[in-house]
Amino acid sequence: MLIGADYYPEHWPASRWETDAAMMEQAGLTVVRLAEFAWAKLEPEEGVYDFSWLDQALAVLSAHGIRAVLGTPTAAPPKWLMDRYEGMYNVDGYGRKRGFGSRRHYCFNSPDYQNAARRIAAAMGAHYKNHPAVLGWQIDNEFGCHNDEVCYCEHCRREFVRWLKIKYATVEELNRAWGTVFWSQTYRSFDEVILPGYAQCDGENGRNFCHNPGLLLDYMRCRTDNICAFLQMQVDALRQAGSRQPVTHNFMGTYDRIDYFKLAKGVDFVSWDNYIRHQWQAYPFEEAALAHETMRGLKKKKFWVMEQQSGPAGWSVMGDTPRPGQLRLWSWQAYAHGAQAIVYFRWRACLFGAEQYWHGILDYDGVPRRRYREVAQTAGELTRIDTLLSGGMPVNETALIKSYDNAFSHRFQPHNPKFDYNALLLSYYEGLVRNGVSCDVRSIDDDLSPYKLIILPAFQLLTTPMAKKLEDYVSRGGQVVVSFRSGAREWNNQMTERTLPGLLRDLAGVTVTEFNSIFYGEPIAVQGPHMAATASIWCDLLEPDTAECYARYAGDYCEGTAAITVNCYGKGKAWYVGCDLDKDGMAVLLGDILKGAGIAPPVRGLPDGVEAVLWKQENGRKALFLLNHAKTPAVIPASSFSCNLLTGEPVSGEWTLGGYETAVLG
Ligand code: GAL
Repeated sequence: MLIGADYYPEHWPASRWETDAAMMEQAGLTVVRLAEFAWAKLEPEEGVYDFSWLDQALAVLSAHGIRAVLGTPTAAPPKWLMDRYEGMYNVDGYGRKRGFGSRRHYCFNSPDYQNAARRIAAAMGAHYKNHPAVLGWQIDNEFGCHNDEVCYCEHCRREFVRWLKIKYATVEELNRAWGTVFWSQTYRSFDEVILPGYAQCDGENGRNFCHNPGLLLDYMRCRTDNICAFLQMQVDALRQAGSRQPVTHNFMGTYDRIDYFKLAKGVDFVSWDNYIRHQWQAYPFEEAALAHETMRGLKKKKFWVMEQQSGPAGWSVMGDTPRPGQLRLWSWQAYAHGAQAIVYFRWRACLFGAEQYWHGILDYDGVPRRRYREVAQTAGELTRIDTLLSGGMPVNETALIKSYDNAFSHRFQPHNPKFDYNALLLSYYEGLVRNGVSCDVRSIDDDLSPYKLIILPAFQLLTTPMAKKLEDYVSRGGQVVVSFRSGAREWNNQMTERTLPGLLRDLAGVTVTEFNSIFYGEPIAVQGPHMAATASIWCDLLEPDTAECYARYAGDYCEGTAAITVNCYGKGKAWYVGCDLDKDGMAVLLGDILKGAGIAPPVRGLPDGVEAVLWKQENGRKALFLLNHAKTPAVIPASSFSCNLLTGEPVSGEWTLGGYETAVLG
């Protein structure tokens, strides 16, 4: 277990470094991330490198037992570089150059930028390949962070054309896949193809870029490939320079505008940046949990948190200061879901720059106070428990399937202004948490056989092999849950002409005779023997073929029509959920589904706000993390666990877990 901080020695006089390193050591920190925005200091002029300051910082840190992940600094190209070559800036959908003055102002496909990035990566690789304190690399910083996953420059258009030629071979095939006969968009050659930038309908009806859906989807798929290639180019540069240190990139949790399953293939380990409450948003604990699960799912192994919030956070205004106990709780949550390193952002609040308000463990004055002490306490506890549980892993019997292709498609045409693919995934995840269990996050391409239950909400882009895989899975005894819009489109983003739910119709044993986007209408009640819920976004009107009805609509014109069904298929069952559900309704539905699938929570009847994460240790024994996200104490029901490994105290019968407290039961 590694605990550390994101450290910016270049922001402080060298005379302070020793104090910082000693304080870090004192708090039990053993790793820092350095230099990911320091290009102008590392290469002040083209081809002139200065690693002396970084060498010196590493020497000070390593004397205190602290090792480093070095960032390749390509998220912050310096002014001299941007001035020197044409066409390196990112260009927005209106054709405007997104200029200098912040960061991430570059185009992934600019050959000049690629050369400059390759050179700095190679120079750093050559210099640090044998450095004992350099334990790895972070390539760039948060691809896509400032909407730069898209760019509309001529380099990008040419790259898109190249990509399309490989995919479609003939322009006729492209025209067919995209349906360009609509509105006379037929292309006579690949070179005529456009990027989905500013067009005549832009801005009408409150939605931008009303483009061909096939083009939009391929554009996003191409962007993922471009970004993966940019990452790989830097990895190759490091390797060719002789560096063998492992490589990561800091992902952004539930962000879904890059296919993270693909991006993760290019790194040795996944890391991500976890901010729970800041200027722009405060996430419910379930969302942080789902993000951790997604990150573990990308490579199916433990991951790092490369930036963990450690203070009040914002750019122009500040989010709330984390309350006493919250930094510790968030760290335990990360660990429970599989973090093998937690690096706090940032060591100390900076006196200058755009992130003056983004606080760290220390405030501006650098004096250790409450947050420093809390980090130190957490570091000690985590290290101790990690030794005890070494080799343990979270274990789940349910998999939630995330599809980035589907995320892209839903983003452009969400069906209903209230619909959000991520929010739908989260509503299923919250329903599981309410039933005392967690789940793994998987791609449809993964092996699903270890799971008793798999859930694929709004899986609208679907192929025949995928549908067959689901049928095989269920016929062998698995249970599957699909929701409204599943099976509604072909893989190229065209609507399917099959009767809905399309390729899933046999499996679900149901026909969608009609659907209703709840736009101007009132929410519709959904009732079943166990359920009194509400749908407020979407209603599929279902006609069971071989399925049984689980719940019906009560109200509006669909009164009495089936809303949720379950179909016996082979040895398993397929659930079709034709609508969205409020939180209580989702918890009831998933409670019934889990029960039927033989998935029991490790502790029954946990109060709301308490999260349970189950681990299996190498010796086969189980450990259970209980995290109380509420500030008030929670009463924990009796379970088969007998000891709280964190306090060393026995547990039996009903007991109380303090506000923001964690227990590790064994
Ligand atoms: C992350 C980023 C950091 C810092 C932090 C706070 O997105 O990687 O460099 O900017 O947010 O805004």
